[in-house]
Order: sequence, then C-alpha cells, then structure tokens
Amino acid sequence: MASLNHAYEASIPANPTQDHKTSDEQPKLDQFVAKTTRLSWAKPTANFLLICAIILYIIISSARWAISDPSPDELRLQQFYTSKLEVGLQRCAESQRSPIKYPETKAGSRHNPRWNPVTGQNTTLVLKNATLFDGEKFLEKPVDIVFKYGIIDSVTNSGKTVFPDEYQSSDLRGAYVTPGLVDMHSHHLAISWPILLETDDSNEVNPETGPLTPQVRVIDSIKAYDIATTIIASGGVTTSLILPGSANIMGGEAVIVKNLLCSGPNGEEVVEEILLEHGIPLNDRRRYMKMACGTNPRAVYDHTRMGTAWIFRKHMARARELMLKQDEWCLTAQSLQSSSDAEKIAAFVQKTDSEDLARDYLEYDSSIAMLKGQIGVNVHCYETEDMEDMMKHSKEFGFRIQAFHHALDAWEVPEMLKASGDNITIATFAEMGLYKKEAYEANLWAGRILAEHGVPVAYKSDHVGEETSAKYLLHQAATAHAFQLSEELALQSVTSVPAKSLEVDHRVGYVRPGYDADIVVWNSHPLSVGATAIQVYIDGRATLDPKTVAESGAVIEQGEEQKTLVQKSTISSTERQEICDQVEKDGARITITGIRKSYLNDEYPATKDGNATMVIKNGEILCFASHEACSSHITSGPIINLKNGHVLPGLTAVSVSLGLSEIALDSGTSDGIVGKSPSSVDPENVVYAKYGIHFDGRGFARARIGGVTRAVSAPLSNGFADGVSVGILTSGKKTILDGGIFQEDVALHFRIGQNAKSASLPTISSSVHKLRQLLHQNTNKTNIYGRASRGEIPLVVHANDEYDISQLISLKHAFNTTNLILHGGASAHLVATHLAAASIPVLLSHPRPAPDSFSKRSALPGPPLSQSPVRVLTAAGVKVGLASAGENDSHIHNLMVEASWAGKLAGLSRGEAVGLVAGNVEGILGLNKAGVVVWEGDPLEFGADVVVSFEGGGVGSCWPVSN
Ligand SMILES: *[C@@H]1O[C@H](CO)[C@@H](O)[C@H](O)[C@H]1NC(C)=O
Ligand SMILES: *[C@@H]1O[C@H](CO)[C@@H](O)[C@H](O)[C@H]1NC(C)=O
Ligand SMILES: *[C@@H]1O[C@H](CO)[C@@H](O)[C@H](O)[C@H]1NC(C)=O
Ligand SMILES: *[C@@H]1O[C@H](CO)[C@@H](O)[C@H](O)[C@H]1NC(C)=O
Repeated sequence: MASLNHAYEASIPANPTQDHKTSDEQPKLDQFVAKTTRLSWAKPTANFLLICAIILYIIISSARWAISDPSPDELRLQQFYTSKLEVGLQRCAESQRSPIKYPETKAGSRHNPRWNPVTGQNTTLVLKNATLFDGEKFLEKPVDIVFKYGIIDSVTNSGKTVFPDEYQSSDLRGAYVTPGLVDMHSHHLAISWPILLETDDSNEVNPETGPLTPQVRVIDSIKAYDIATTIIASGGVTTSLILPGSANIMGGEAVIVKNLLCSGPNGEEVVEEILLEHGIPLNDRRRYMKMACGTNPRAVYDHTRMGTAWIFRKHMARARELMLKQDEWCLTAQSLQSSSDAEKIAAFVQKTDSEDLARDYLEYDSSIAMLKGQIGVNVHCYETEDMEDMMKHSKEFGFRIQAFHHALDAWEVPEMLKASGDNITIATFAEMGLYKKEAYEANLWAGRILAEHGVPVAYKSDHVGEETSAKYLLHQAATAHAFQLSEELALQSVTSVPAKSLEVDHRVGYVRPGYDADIVVWNSHPLSVGATAIQVYIDGRATLDPKTVAESGAVIEQGEEQKTLVQKSTISSTERQEICDQVEKDGARITITGIRKSYLNDEYPATKDGNATMVIKNGEILCFASHEACSSHITSGPIINLKNGHVLPGLTAVSVSLGLSEIALDSGTSDGIVGKSPSSVDPENVVYAKYGIHFDGRGFARARIGGVTRAVSAPLSNGFADGVSVGILTSGKKTILDGGIFQEDVALHFRIGQNAKSASLPTISSSVHKLRQLLHQNTNKTNIYGRASRGEIPLVVHANDEYDISQLISLKHAFNTTNLILHGGASAHLVATHLAAASIPVLLSHPRPAPDSFSKRSALPGPPLSQSPVRVLTAAGVKVGLASAGENDSHIHNLMVEASWAGKLAGLSRGEAVGLVAGNVEGILGLNKAGVVVWEGDPLEFGADVVVSFEGGGVGSCWPVSN
C-alpha cells in the first residue's frame, strides 16, 4: 500500500509540518524561478501596489514637503506624483477589465502563437481520407485535412481537391482522426517521473501558509523535462491543465500546457515554451484556481467540514474587503486626476497605502481576481454535501465554479448542479472509485445519467502515477460509452467539453479551420478496445516516429466490425426478476440459444453456422452443439435466446484486495494490514487470508458484471511476508460455510523491493537473504515455508525492478524445487529470456506499465512508443497471467477488456487473450477450472453483458448489475 503516498492527486503528506523545500536546486531552475517571479510583478494589482509602495517610500524619505508655494523642485515632484497616479489608474483599468472573450475561430482568422520559425511546422501537411470526429461529431464523409504553421487551414470532403505539389501528404485510407485530447486535470510536470522524494511539488503543505494558498502558482513547480509528458502525448493527449494538488482548500493557480517538451526555437527545457498560451501577452492569459473540499483538506489540517468552510469564507470576506478598498482607491484616484489638484494627489498617495497592505494585495491577488470572474475556479469535490456547500459559497461571494473535479457523487444531484445556473462541468473518472468513503458512491453509469440531465461531463486523468496515467485518458471515454454515454458525448468528453470548460475552445478541442493543428490519427475506432495513436500532431508537428510506431505493434485495424460499437444494455428489474427466478431455481435445466462463439477451448468448438445451443444444469454442460443436436436435452426449463452469445470460462482475478478491504483508505473496512514486524515471518505467525475473507461488497458487484467468477486474494501487506492467499467465489451468495471458498490456500506470498523495507529488514538485500534463509531452513519441515520450498504450494514473490527480479531468478536456480511465480513484473521484459529458461511464470500487474517510480524506471511505456510487456514476455516464451494492480479492484469489471487490450497490443489470438485472465492464471497458480459465463455480446470488446454465470455447481449470478 506504499503507493498510497502518491495516488489520487493526493500526494498529501501525512504530516503538514513535513519539509517540502527542495534542496540545492540547479542553477537553471533558479533562473526560471527568478524569471517567473519577475513576470508576476506584471500582474495588474501587484504592479500597481509595488508602485504605490515606492511612491510612499519616496514621500516619506523626502523630508521637507511643503504644501504651499512649491519651488521648482517641489513642482517636479508634484508632477512625478501625478504621473504615478496615472500609472496607478492604468493598473486600475487593467484590474477592472472583464475576462478576455476570444472571437469565433475561423480559417485565416488567427495564427498559432506557439509557432516559431526555427522548429515550428514549416511544410504544409495534408492528411487525406480521414474518418474525422471533429470535436462535436463524426463527419459523414471522409475528409482531407490541411494544416500549416501550426494551424488547421481546411477540412474538405476527400477526393474533391487537388493539392499543390509542395504539400506533404499522407493517405490515411479512412483511418480515424480526432482532435488532440484535452485533459483538464493532471499533475505531471509538477510531479515528474520517476517520482522521487524531491520531485513532488504539487501541494504547498506547510504550517506557515496553512490550507489557503491561492497565491502560489503551479507554474513555479513545473519541470519542463518530465518524461511523462511525452508518454501522455503518445496517448493522443495534447493539452493538459496542470493543477496543484488537493491538500489545501485553495491550492493555487493552475496552468495549461501542450504536451510537447522542448518545443521552443532552441529546443531547450523551458517552462514558458510548453505553455498553451506561450506567445500571448501575460495579461491576456487565462488563469485557473484549484480548490478542494472534503476529506483531503480536512485530514491534512485536522478540520471538520464546518471548520474548513469557515476558513474559506473568512478568506473570501477579506478578499472582498481588499477588492473594495482597491476599487475605492481607483475611484478616488480618478476623481483626483480630473481635479488636477497636485497637492491633494500627493496627500492622497501619501496616506493610502502601506507595505503591509501591499503584501496583502499580493497574497490576495488571485482571490480578488476570482471575485472579478477573471479566474476559472476548479474544485476538487466528491460528495453531494460538499458540492452544495461550495455552490453556496460561490453565491455568497459571487464567483463562478468552472468545474467540479472527481465529483463521483455528482450523478446523485444533477438537478442541484444545474440549478446553480453556472453550467458547471463535471470532470470525473469513468470507473475509478471506491477507494475512499468520498469515492464509494461511484457509478459506472454516471456519464449517461449526467448527460441525460444536460450536465456537461469531461473525463480527466488526475495523472500522478501509473494508475492515473493520462496516456490512457481515452479509455475512460470508451468505458463511459460502454455504459451508455453516447458516442458523440463520449468523444466530446475528452475534447471539446474540457476545452469549452477551460475557455480555450477557440484553439483546441476541435479539428476545424483556424484551430491549433493538434490532431491524432488512431489505429482503430477511438472508443474501441486498445485504440492506439499512430500519429500525434501538436501545433502541426508530428511527434511520433513511424518506424517506432510500426515496431511497437500498433497496426491499423481495418474491417467493418471496427465501425460498430456496442453498449451495455439495461433490462427492467421486473424482466430481470422473471428470467432469474426461473434460472436460479435449484436444478433448473437452462437452454441458451444464439451462441456465436465459445472460448471454452478444445472441448466446445464453435458450431459451423455460428448459432449454437447450450443446455446446462447445476453448472454442468449437458449439451453444447447445434440446436438440433441438443434438442433431446431441451425440456421445459427456462430458455434464453441470445443474439450474439459468447461463452467464456469464468475469469479468475488475482485481486488487489477483494474480500479483504472494502474501502482502501478506510482501515475500518479492512481485514487489516500485515505489518513490518520481525515476528510476521515466523512460521507460526503466517497470515492466512481465508480467515479474514468477506464475500460481498461493491468490488464484487463490479466483478460479477465483468464475468469474473472467482478471485485470489492475498493478505494485505506493507511488508516482506504477506501470507497465504485464498481463492473465493464472487457471486456474493456463498460464504465459508457453504463453498464460498474454492481453494483455501492458494500460494505463499512475499514482496521484494522498496515497499518491503522495514526496521528488521531495512534493505532489499536483507529481504532477499531472508527469503533464501526461510526456504533453506525449512526445507524439511512441514510448515508452510517447507511446503513452498518443496514446491507443494506456489511461492509468489512480488518484485518490479529488473535487478530484484534477477535475484529471484537466481533464487530459483538455487531452490529449483520451488514453484516460484513472479508477481508485479513491471520490468520483467528485461530478463524475459532468463525467466523463460528458469520456468518462472509471471502474474503481470502492469500490462500497461509506467516508469513512475525508481523501481519501475525501465517499464515499457507501450505502443506507440515501445512494444508492450506482454508481447516481449510471451515472445520469449514466458507464461503470463494478468493480475490487478492499484489501490483497489474498481476496474475489475473491465478485466476481460484489459486482457483483450493486452492481447491486441501483443499480437495474441483472441483465445490467448482470454487465457491471460483464465486458463493461464489457473495454470500458473494450480487452480481447478473455473465455471462458465454466458455473455450477450463480445466480451473482448466494450459493451458486452453477462447474462448468466455458473460457478461452484450452480448459478453464480443472473443478469448481474452494478453501479
Ligand atoms: C523546417 O523544419 C525542420 C524541422 O524543424 C528543419 O530541420 C528545417 O530546416 C526547416 N526548414 C526550413 C525551410 O525552414
Ligand atoms: C478512402 O479509404 C477507403 C479505405 O481504404 C477507400 O475505400 C476509399 O476509396 C478512399 N476514398 C478516397 C476518396 O480516397
Ligand atoms: C455548458 O458547457 C458545455 C461544456 O463546457 C457547453 O458545451 C455548453 O454549450 C454550455 N451550455 C451553456 C448553456 O452555456
Ligand atoms: C439460433 O437458432 C435458434 C434455434 O434454431 C433460433 O431460434 C434462433 O433464432 C437462432 N438465433 C440466431 C441469433 O440466429
């Protein structure tokens, strides 16, 4: 659970007094800090105040100031004040002006301010024959897209225009094209990969500044060399809003970037040059504020919700007071200016400011701008009461909320959100949830529900580490689409909706003339499983090397089935009741027709006409063949007629915590965590998951709709010795008393690596030594270590770093009777041939890994930047099963989709892809065969429904449903 430290944009230090200052910054960083600090003085109010302070200083230090009979010197001084007053008034005008409204974007109406003549796009490109989603909809006919100097020039029906010879053209042959994706919630650049102790600059948590830090700006944390940026861009995400973290009620100002490092004329790591608004005058740039409600600021500062609300309101009241003072100054100054009374002007300037006030203004500048509507307010807020409260504050002080982020409960109050009248965007996750109380009401159908009420929905990454990697933003839109968000809205949710919400929809979010040339070419329909970018243009510049893309295994998928996407269906509860009452009757003989494809391997090949019938009773298949061949088995029992039936084995999840923890961040809902104490490795203290297991919860419900009939769960641990895993059914119908456990002791689990260090085993080397010692000393004993040493129970060891994995391979050489299985395996591809030679299979937790930590620094970013780990491992002959990773099992309903995706990227057959989460896992862990799951639709694609599953000698679930 070490990953808790940097998950969920939290990266919230447990202790606010923790020192967050970076030590010896490199000189280049110092320069940029100095530069941005200088820039800050150009902000209207700050500048104005500085001037006031200087004036004041001069007044006080010029001792003999006479009101009457000015001497020539005094006259000059009076003129000096008058002109300074004018400067102040100019600042007044600037601070009062309304936010910039951009004119409608049209061809030829604008240039790309990020463009430069040295590295900018300098040849005109035309993408021919593109199937284009333009940000709003799919265009009916294929189009040709012309772009130059970083701007889209024209979009015309394909084949109608003859382009000049000097245009560089690329024939897409109907491939899918979308605008560059827009992610309105990311923390990359502020926290760079691999995450090290000194690279997280996302939360200004410090007892001195406290929970209100609107005055800090994330731009001052940005590291314009974060490798995540390039990985994110390879997922088609070209624009990101970089936000401070959520530890503080007001976290600071955010900034929008384009995900192209070193994009300036000198190709250097310059922060300014990755900004979307690079090239636009500072005063004309968009500003954004990050705020947070709920448990993060509550936990970090030990406040209740009412305390948090009061602190915020007090701050805003002060901001309003200062704003009014500022306005008063401006009005008085105006009238003095028209009176031209030099003496009064001097007196006014003398008495109207102080250094303290100047400092206050600097500190409150962002909050005042918020009150003036000059800053887009983005609030991290999950729960209904928190959103309601924040909306109340927004009315009390008169600021507009641009978006609620995360907002996993928003689906429960769409009308309340709408009633704000502010058209608040819900920037949320499609499936991640359940990890804390605030996230426990997460609903897979939320996108559709919000859309039905006309609430704008955007999906966002919350990029911090692998689990939130922004590279896979599009997967969320695809998942939301599977749960009935329409195709157009799903694609809008990662393009034009966030662009509009952030008020940059005059430049990004669309492929239309006049827009920035941020264009993504996909290898398949962008909402299909495993859609991979094969070219990403940012400001018209191609960012992917076609040779690398080809070698990565990302190939264009052709064919008609590409165009038909399926969504999950919903049946009424009465309809469901009717079918399930019969199906779930003890001993019912169930007939299922319309089965097009079976993955039950050799036993039941698909019939020739693609319409097989299955008759099944108590989980036992009586007949599975053509309808005629099965007719003698069909009796009066229930009949289910499918249109596109698929039969799969029940999937077995190597789970994160299913049955052992309900809400990851709430220890009161968990079996507990095997600690780091020295005694935890004593044979008599080994922990058995079978004694702590629960059999239902929200993760189980998601498992059931994903056709996951069984799970293997190891004791939760943050140390070296985890204990013994258990195999359970996910039906939620059985317990330990009636067969809920299908295998009591599955494997003995250990962990080698950073997260296994403890006081007694302070180094990785001591953990490796300890493991060898345990196997050696217990070889002839009957205890669990002895059994593992002799290979009587699998020995599963979690490791990610290639050097740690090499230690395990060496250990296997020394203890060749063990049945050693590698778990985790983020960098296993580097030792794939050794793993194969030593017959060590891998339960891979990272089919889409990220080099987000030092231990995973060698992890493959995957297509289009590299091959996928499954491809490398399977090519080397390593047996691979997929294991879940992350904080909890909230993604478990997509287990088959994940395996299908891994299979596509690795060039596996569909049957082999199923094996990754079925037969291979059974083979690796020595489990008996799982039951059978009947699906309507193809579960290797999005949108298939589990109709009925059979497990443990009966019906596991019938038309399972889940939030
Ligand atoms: C065009 O851009 C490329 C890549 O940035 C550069 O190598 C080339 O010199 C440029 N050509 C012209 C004519 O400016
Ligand atoms: C576009 O590509 C498709 C698929 O290759 C092809 O059938 C069609 O003729 C092409 N259209 C044009 C106008 O080139
Ligand atoms: C609300 O916001 C969405 C997305 O930002 C936008 O598409 C829509 O036009 C807005 N509606 C109104 C009434 O402003
Ligand atoms: C499959 O065959 C059965 C029995 O012949 C028939 O009732 C059903 O309509 C067919 N289903 C499909 C999808 O063709």
